[in-house]
Amino acid sequence: MALKELRQLKRLQGKRVLVRVDFNVPLRGKKILEDYKITKSLPTIEYLVQCGARVVLASHLGRPKGVEAKLSLRPVASRLAELLKQKVPLLPIATLKGWQKMESAVRALGNGEVVMLENIRFIAGEKKDSPELAKKLARLADLFVLDGFAVAHRAAASVSGVARFLPSYAGFLLANEVKILSQAVMHPRRPLVVILGGIKIETKIPIIKNLLSKADAILVGGAIATTYEWAKGNSVGASIVGKEFKKDILKYCHNKKVIVPIDAVVGDAKGNHAQVIATDRSFAVANKNFGMYSIGPKTVQLFSAYIKKARTLIWNGALGWFEQPPYGHANRAIAHLFAARSKGRAFGICGGGESVEVLRHEGLFDDIDLVSTGGGAMLEFLAGKKLPGLTALQK
Ligand code: 3PG
Repeated sequence: MALKELRQLKRLQGKRVLVRVDFNVPLRGKKILEDYKITKSLPTIEYLVQCGARVVLASHLGRPKGVEAKLSLRPVASRLAELLKQKVPLLPIATLKGWQKMESAVRALGNGEVVMLENIRFIAGEKKDSPELAKKLARLADLFVLDGFAVAHRAAASVSGVARFLPSYAGFLLANEVKILSQAVMHPRRPLVVILGGIKIETKIPIIKNLLSKADAILVGGAIATTYEWAKGNSVGASIVGKEFKKDILKYCHNKKVIVPIDAVVGDAKGNHAQVIATDRSFAVANKNFGMYSIGPKTVQLFSAYIKKARTLIWNGALGWFEQPPYGHANRAIAHLFAARSKGRAFGICGGGESVEVLRHEGLFDDIDLVSTGGGAMLEFLAGKKLPGLTALQK
């Protein structure tokens, strides 16, 4: 996928550049718990600053209904100021009065200065991809840069909308993630092994559908595996099951490329009575309060054999309930193997909530070739969907 890229731009001095980042970071009160997304957009922001551009940053935070003080980007602006070692004033946009103030503040920006707009989702038109809001945003700048891969799947005024009214380019973070993911899916070093887990089965089915023809093996755990056991007619107790996907799951899990667990760790939600059960014909979760909460040790061995042969690895979604002992062991074992093979024999890509969380928890981030900033966006990309933010930047 060829995108117009920021690096192609010359003469940025004095240009006002609106940059849509994704600084949707986890907060506890005003404390940022994790600033990965902020640090990953630093190269784009620093480049613009060094070129003497006047930088206007826009991001959302959470899913506010109107203006919600607890979802202000103020802590994010402060963190960015620390990282950039320069001031990053936060500009209010909640009211028209605020908007006018904001326009004058943007007009007054000097070369190499940076400001951040308040949470763009405080404005109703953002999520509705309102052309009025997109035009207003476009009036703030000479150029638009989309750097938030994590928001590229949203048709929103500050993502795809504004790109209709300004010359628009991909920032370094976005261009890099799209390049790596496209390469891994379209022209992977083989074997390409995909690991899919997690509980949101509805987001995984389209990925299996899209990647079956491209991958050499798809190793499945999480709700895909529990739904498969249920679909075969086995009792799965309190395990998460996506009943509406029965037909798809049976079809895909019977495909030779899809490798299903051969055993599972079963127990209650507090980790009591945990035992390993083979997922053979006699498989049954006897107690209705027990569930399949992890792949078992034989499955770890089976999956490991595929992972060791892989030259491209893509991982999305946990293979066990990793926060709840003892269901986290298998997931951790896979995480360590995944990290050991990445940046070496295999090119390793990981994205999405819990799989990224386990890598972070185990201190393995630096061992992975790409830890994607995109959760939902990566899922949609892997599912072969068109991402509105990317469509807007295509050459
Ligand atoms: C994310 O965290 O995945 C992105 O910031 C997108 O957030 P959203 O799902 O609220 O659009």
